[in-house]
Amino acid sequence: MGSMTLVALLMCLCAGALVVRAEDPYLFFTWNVSYGTIAPLGVPQQAILINGQFPGPKINCSSNNNIVVNVFNNLDEPFLLTWHGIQQRKNSWQDGTPGTMCPIPPGTNYTYHFQVKDQIGSYYYFPTSSLHRASGGIGPIRVNSRLLIPVPFDEPADDYSVIMGDWYNKGHKSLKKLLDSGRSLGRPDGIQINGKSSKVGGNNEPLFTMEPGKTYRYRFCNVGMKTSLNVRFQGHKMKLVEMEGSHTVQNVYESLDLHVGQCLSVLVTADQEPKDYYLVASSRFAKTPLTAVAVIRYTNGQGAASSELPKPPPENSVGIAWSMNQFRTFRWNLTASAARPNPQGSYHYGKINITRTIRLANSKTQVEGKLRYAVNGVSHADSETPLKLAEYYGVPQKVFKYDSMADEPAPEGTSNILVAPNVVNQTFRDFVEIILENHEKTIQTWHLDGYSFFAVAMEPGRWTPEKRKNYNLLDALSRHTIHVFPGSWSAIMLTFDNAGMWNMRDEYNLPDYTKLGGIVKDMPMPPPYSV
Ligand SMILES: *[C@@H]1O[C@H](CO)[C@@H](O)[C@H](O)[C@H]1NC(C)=O
Ligand SMILES: *[C@@H]1O[C@H](CO)[C@@H](O)[C@H](O)[C@H]1NC(C)=O
Ligand SMILES: *[C@@H]1O[C@H](CO)[C@@H](O)[C@H](O)[C@H]1NC(C)=O
Ligand SMILES: *[C@@H]1O[C@H](CO)[C@@H](O)[C@H](O)[C@H]1NC(C)=O
Ligand SMILES: *[C@@H]1O[C@H](CO)[C@@H](O)[C@H](O)[C@H]1NC(C)=O
Ligand SMILES: *[C@@H]1O[C@H](CO)[C@@H](O)[C@H](O)[C@H]1NC(C)=O
Repeated sequence: MGSMTLVALLMCLCAGALVVRAEDPYLFFTWNVSYGTIAPLGVPQQAILINGQFPGPKINCSSNNNIVVNVFNNLDEPFLLTWHGIQQRKNSWQDGTPGTMCPIPPGTNYTYHFQVKDQIGSYYYFPTSSLHRASGGIGPIRVNSRLLIPVPFDEPADDYSVIMGDWYNKGHKSLKKLLDSGRSLGRPDGIQINGKSSKVGGNNEPLFTMEPGKTYRYRFCNVGMKTSLNVRFQGHKMKLVEMEGSHTVQNVYESLDLHVGQCLSVLVTADQEPKDYYLVASSRFAKTPLTAVAVIRYTNGQGAASSELPKPPPENSVGIAWSMNQFRTFRWNLTASAARPNPQGSYHYGKINITRTIRLANSKTQVEGKLRYAVNGVSHADSETPLKLAEYYGVPQKVFKYDSMADEPAPEGTSNILVAPNVVNQTFRDFVEIILENHEKTIQTWHLDGYSFFAVAMEPGRWTPEKRKNYNLLDALSRHTIHVFPGSWSAIMLTFDNAGMWNMRDEYNLPDYTKLGGIVKDMPMPPPYSV
């Protein structure tokens, strides 16, 4: 599968033990990853379960907790997990992406250690190799504020995690064969909500229950392969309170768009007639929309949910304008206290001078009969040896070259692309502006591991330096994903203050890797970095 990986490399590194303060508690998990039969869309199929479940077990933790997960791989293929949006400061060894780690061989176990440092919010974990995420292995991560750190809303009566996304009945092995034969994944078969997809009017078990008068927090994550979703409740409004680790200005919404790889939380108050209501998730920008529902039941409620579902927002280009406008309403609550995503001080990010502008544009080309995606004319190919390990062992020149890619897109129509590991050398602590331009027909969601960035703008058309006057330089959300609509651009700003080699990628074109550790696989695992 074509990949669009930019590996951002930061210098100023030195090896040493990860400094863990004694007062930060440890949480231990033991996970058994195995195949099992589930029926997310009503058709029994083989899926990847963790401790027999899909979604997998929740990691419920607080800021600065140390997390230790011993993962037993009982699949017949190597398995690799990433902790999506968990910043693991200075510790990209545990990132679980193919440039930085080797997967866990079948029949063995590996223990991930990481710290959820200086962050709060809603996240998830998922497998990054062999298209495993199309078959499961996904679950929620909830990071609570530490005691004594005030949260900008009253404690909800309960806190519900909802893992949702498009779903294929084929399973990852068949999907992988499709891609390997040069075809695309095609249309998903449906949408799953916490591993189920209820039918309107069916005799459905409730997904969650609410007591009349009480307020509940729902944490939604779109964990799908490629489909943007719109989420809404029958008869209830949603108050947005958190998105990817930032407490937001608490606007009220009828429905919210949630793109692949994104999470948010809303508060919903059970203030309607006590009965059943549907939670609805429908696909966006698709010719034939897919819709899934789940039942939300009032305790002591009487009566089934109405079969009249709340309407989705408009589709097609009108829908993109709607969605962009909604994006602009997502603001950071500057007065809410929380773990700051960038404690090193890019809080007044609008006042920092930009030291580098990187414009990234993707393109699609055939190389030797295979479909390849490139960024600025370079199509990332991972090496057998994880790049970070090659660097650590002082043998990068044997494996890759730094800075093959320019900071500007290749001239349009360029068909010559370079297929090579794409590693960008970025000076430590510099403040950088990255413009993401989408010249393709499908929506992209970019994600940068190890960081939060300020999502300052999103517009249709082409970016020019004059567009900077439209940036939100005051209260843009600090987050770790950004979507880019077709024929549009999005701009992000960040301080590269988390040393290490980190992976930047388009979630939809997540590359496929199954290889083991290459030339360094028999060497001992080095200790994590600290700076
Ligand atoms: C893991 O799950 C597999 C399949 O259900 C089972 O055979 C195996 O005994 C389990 N291992 C552990 C350590 O629980
Ligand atoms: C999750 O952690 C919070 C804070 O420690 C606690 O109040 C809550 O009961 C936990 N929830 C679950 C489901 O374990
Ligand atoms: C594998 O699991 C065993 C038993 O829990 C544990 O002692 C060992 O450290 C684990 N190995 C790795 C590489 O994590
Ligand atoms: C922001 O957070 C503060 C502090 O908790 C809270 O009082 C205020 O209502 C929030 N503002 C908005 C607009 O959500
Ligand atoms: C930012 O750049 C402006 C114009 O070049 C300069 O006057 C100012 O001192 C710089 N600010 C900082 C904090 O470096
Ligand atoms: C990375 O950039 C820094 C300057 O920002 C330079 O000193 C260093 O040599 C570069 N490293 C590589 C491997 O290109």
